[in-house]
Amino acid sequence: MATFLRTVESFVQGARTMPQRYYVGDEVFTLEQDRIFARSWLCVGRSAELAEPGAYKLQAIGADNVIILREKGGSLRAFHNVCRHRGTRLCEAARGTLRETIQCPYHAWTYALDGRLIGAPHMQEVAGFDKKEYSLVGVALEEWEGFIFINMASSPEPFDEVYAPLLGRFTRFNLAGLAVGRSIEYTVRSNWKLVLQNYNECLHCPTIHPQLSRVLPYTSGANDLTAGPFLGGFMEIAPPHASATMSGRSCGLPIGALPQEDQRRAYYYSLFPSMMLSIHPDYVVYYMVWPQSPSETKIISEWMFHPETMAQPDFDPSDAVEFWDVTNTQDWHICELSHAGIASRAYVPGPYSPRESVPAAWDREYLARMSDGMAPRA
Ligand code: FES
Ligand SMILES: [Fe+2]
Repeated sequence: MATFLRTVESFVQGARTMPQRYYVGDEVFTLEQDRIFARSWLCVGRSAELAEPGAYKLQAIGADNVIILREKGGSLRAFHNVCRHRGTRLCEAARGTLRETIQCPYHAWTYALDGRLIGAPHMQEVAGFDKKEYSLVGVALEEWEGFIFINMASSPEPFDEVYAPLLGRFTRFNLAGLAVGRSIEYTVRSNWKLVLQNYNECLHCPTIHPQLSRVLPYTSGANDLTAGPFLGGFMEIAPPHASATMSGRSCGLPIGALPQEDQRRAYYYSLFPSMMLSIHPDYVVYYMVWPQSPSETKIISEWMFHPETMAQPDFDPSDAVEFWDVTNTQDWHICELSHAGIASRAYVPGPYSPRESVPAAWDREYLARMSDGMAPRA
């Protein structure tokens, strides 16, 4: 009953789904890239995947492409993948190791790993040319709980201010100390927002996820973040299940020093705009959602475990991986059907129920960002 009341309290009467133009057509898609993806802190993976000096990966964000690399000195840096000579993309391979420099494949302008231009053939013959004025264009980068975040804005809102509601909130889960045991990339023929909305409610769980509903009853738990950029809460793991796995058993050591109540809970949060974080007693799954077009979305999901769990000779992540691979596939399919229906001339916005208070809150946050591109009104 307490859960129900809390859900109802955060529900805004009269909330409806968004108009069709938010899901189809290029106009809103382009605006989203400008007002949301070019200005928000975006999770681009784990710090540990770029462990060695010189290690790099590329991240496409709409038409932009960012190089994320580990400098010789050990710190992570991010730069636009754009040569300052005639704009050519510098790095082509999705990931790899850079030796001392980044060299443009076109006319061999050469940059140090801190972004400084250090070589530019024949430019010394150009009056007034100064290499210092042609460093790579930097992208802001922060690390939090072992995740890498980047922000393409020229003066981004400080990460610590944006993430203040979450700083310290997950300490007991030891997120920074976890290691990735499995990654899966999905392509979904749906608008990216339908993926976020779907993640943010479990009203669909009894119909879409019969196996999940036995483990995580959709009426259990409570949402503890119900407005703003971070939304979600916990669900109770129903006995005799110990975790959200195919077997119902734990698939490893507890991820951290968990209090009693967290040993039977799973936490689900969406981190605006495009990260989803699912925390279970014995493993974590996180998702990076990348819009490819109004009707296509790439989703990268990674399963993380305690390193000692992964070091065990019989370590097998499949019990947890399969549970969510099955569930995700069910979700992606319903998102595709949802997108197909929304694209129809018959679609008009429909009413949300109190059990969909979180997707309704997500829509409000999204619309606030889209209306002025600034932080939402309190
Ligand atoms: S475009 Fe890069 S060196 Fe000419
Ligand atoms: Fe679902």
